[in-house]
Amino acid sequence: MEQTTTLFAPSGAGPAERGRLDATLEKLGDLYLALQTGRSDIDPASLLSQWRVDLELHFALEEADSNFGAYLRDRPSLAHGITELRAEHSALLEQVDRVRSLAADRSRWPELAVETAHLVEHFRAHEHKEADLLQESVLRDDGVGAD
Ligand SMILES: [Fe+2]
Repeated sequence: MEQTTTLFAPSGAGPAERGRLDATLEKLGDLYLALQTGRSDIDPASLLSQWRVDLELHFALEEADSNFGAYLRDRPSLAHGITELRAEHSALLEQVDRVRSLAADRSRWPELAVETAHLVEHFRAHEHKEADLLQESVLRDDGVGAD
């Protein structure tokens, strides 16, 4: 896969939770390369479990009353977009579980590499969509007032 370096790169500065998630994403990049080169001395299951934990916390913080809740109070018109983001969180967690089930079967590790990369890509796309939606709402608000 091209752009592996970018795909698994850290997202930049953020709170401790974000740092943990970024560290896991970097390790997933290493895992991807190890799987691609057919290494067998690796433990995909535990890293994927860690990713599940990190993502669950990450999504919970995003969905918190102080985050999505605050946006919704300020901008009721975001309701539809935020409902979609929540649905994507659930779908991403389900996809992580599906990828974790591949890790249990060594004969499926080549598939696991590809699926892991796709899933990281989905997560990145989701994050961009979320940032666009929320930042756009703030920019629209700049000097314009409530909608
Ligand atoms: Fe999100």
